[in-house]
Amino acid sequence: MANIDWSKLTFSYTKTNTILTTTFRNGEWSPVESHTDDYIKVSTYCGAFHYAIECFEGLKAFRGKDGRIRLFRPEENAKRLQRSAKFLGIEAPSVEMFVDLCKRAVMENIDFLPPYEATGASLYLRPTLIGTNPQLGVQSSKESTFMLLCSPVGAYVGGALDAVDVVIARNYDRAAPNGSGSFKVGGNYACSLYSLNVAHELGYKAVLYLDPATKTHIDEFNSSNFFAIKGNTYITPKSDSILPSITNMSLETVAAHLGMEVERRPVPVEELSTFDEVGECGTAVVITPVHKLVDKPFLESDEETVYLYGDGKCGPKSLELYNFITGLQKGEIEDTFGWIEYID
Ligand SMILES: Cc1ncc(COP(=O)(O)O)c(C=O)c1O
Repeated sequence: MANIDWSKLTFSYTKTNTILTTTFRNGEWSPVESHTDDYIKVSTYCGAFHYAIECFEGLKAFRGKDGRIRLFRPEENAKRLQRSAKFLGIEAPSVEMFVDLCKRAVMENIDFLPPYEATGASLYLRPTLIGTNPQLGVQSSKESTFMLLCSPVGAYVGGALDAVDVVIARNYDRAAPNGSGSFKVGGNYACSLYSLNVAHELGYKAVLYLDPATKTHIDEFNSSNFFAIKGNTYITPKSDSILPSITNMSLETVAAHLGMEVERRPVPVEELSTFDEVGECGTAVVITPVHKLVDKPFLESDEETVYLYGDGKCGPKSLELYNFITGLQKGEIEDTFGWIEYID
């Protein structure tokens, strides 16, 4: 096992043993190569560099209470990568190939898989697909390279379950009404960086974007979905411009399993004042509770409406949901949903 202080891990890069690559060229995937070097040789003319022909996934491997290694719903990530690749017009691996390579990446980097006792720590997998043939014209790449990267991670920022402050920045959008918002393409993240950077300078952890067409409904955060709790109801936005989060989908199922009502529907901004708990959800930390939500017509101006939730800690319903999902991931709760893929 690598000499790592697992309790000090953040969501950041650590060099691991290997990365895996395979390239789709002339109708077939090349034999998978395992590289000890993170640097690979690609044409400077490739579509990924010039036209952002890139999509990716993020999922985690966990060491369970019983010592077994678990992946959480990897087929869903495989299918989402296929959707993103179709949007970009490039070839993606099959679900089977995707899951097999995830498993192989974990085994080759087992030294970096945190032990069960390391709370909040896991081996984060970053499957990445890029257009790699040399090109000048704006067109989908004929050749695509699939890379399986990984890094041990801890909580995303601060620690999981510390409540954060976030901001609605009405003068910025993350996605266009009929654009790429529902696909996990790198370009979406590039486009939200400016507003995120300004928000960070102002002390906010994330930007909460509104629906770009009418600016009347909640969409999602830079890198997570939005959810709220009202009474015994789990509420999350229905929108064509948000990423279909696998964590959110799982939380909806778990909420129903725990006897809550579940509503996926357009969420008007006015409803923010009626929620008991609000949070971000995503693979990185499952749930990040929101304490203060500030709505600003202009991110750079002082005008604002403030909403407060809880006392800076995770609300009771969010905590119950968090404990259930992490319990499944760490093998503390029996998986009756068929979500866990074992590696052994
Ligand atoms: C824009 C965006 N929304 C939502 C999510 C959460 O998705 P998931 O739960 O599949 O990680 C992510 C993270 O991957 C994201 O980048």
